[in-house]
Amino acid sequence: MEQISDYLCRYKNYNFAVGQATTEYIDSLQSFEIRDSDIFLVTYLKSGTVWTQQIIISICELGGGLNEYPNNFEQMPWLEYREDRADYSLRPSPRLFCSHLIPALMPLGLKDKKAKMIYVMRNPKDNIVSYYYFSCAAADLETPKSFDHFFEEYMKGNVGASSWFDHIREWHSVKDQYNILYLTFEEMILDLRAAVTKICTFLGKNLSEAAIEQVVEKSTFNNMKKDPKANYEFLPETKLKGDFMRKGNIGDWKNHLTAAQSERVDQLLQEKLGDMSLKFIWE
Ligand code: A3P
Repeated sequence: MEQISDYLCRYKNYNFAVGQATTEYIDSLQSFEIRDSDIFLVTYLKSGTVWTQQIIISICELGGGLNEYPNNFEQMPWLEYREDRADYSLRPSPRLFCSHLIPALMPLGLKDKKAKMIYVMRNPKDNIVSYYYFSCAAADLETPKSFDHFFEEYMKGNVGASSWFDHIREWHSVKDQYNILYLTFEEMILDLRAAVTKICTFLGKNLSEAAIEQVVEKSTFNNMKKDPKANYEFLPETKLKGDFMRKGNIGDWKNHLTAAQSERVDQLLQEKLGDMSLKFIWE
């Protein structure tokens, strides 16, 4: 890994936080054995990962057969942050994983299209704001000098997980190679029940209306904020000094981006993703 700043390392076109992963481990993921029952949630960070994690876990719990873990982070760990957790190959099925990785770093076995994958995208302006606050709170990330400075680094992709624009492009370019459902943070905000139903159908879980309602209830912002398994307050203060569950809405970018910054995002979006017919909800 090439260290590119005090906080970031680069490997195969992807920025990791320093000390987050080794090249050996990331390379080993290519041959990571995939089971047909595996479920992967992939996102660029700050796009609704822990929210979708709560939905998937709740659906699988009610669908039956899920093993108990102390919290959502243990139940559905990040593939790339293995740290000292037990060997994933020893975990009982069904295994649930999260990841922020790009397609080139993902296990090749996912291309058999048996395991299910869900990709969640959030509009980049709200993503920048959420990422800025998270960088202020997370020990592994560089504390931004200012919002404007962070904005410039984000636009250049000089942040953990690299460029949002590349992540979106790469993941939307491989849709035929995976068994993958695409969702947006905004559609989840606008109609959580519809999003839960969509995920249920994709996962092949036939939940009753009452069970779907239970998943929706468990996954609202206010209920998740109180849920010790889901709110990430179990992370030690040395890792995160602040709330994972911050505002959880659409359009906070209007309180942070200048008109010129907003226009620059629009321009880059057009330049990098203009040909992809993606739809964004800004408010
Ligand atoms: P904000 O910082 O804009 O509030 P991730 O899990 O990918 O890191 O994304 C975190 C973002 O998702 C945060 O956005 C957080 O508040 C939001 N979020 C988490 N759970 C949510 C929920 N149940 N409803 C709405 N937003 C949620």
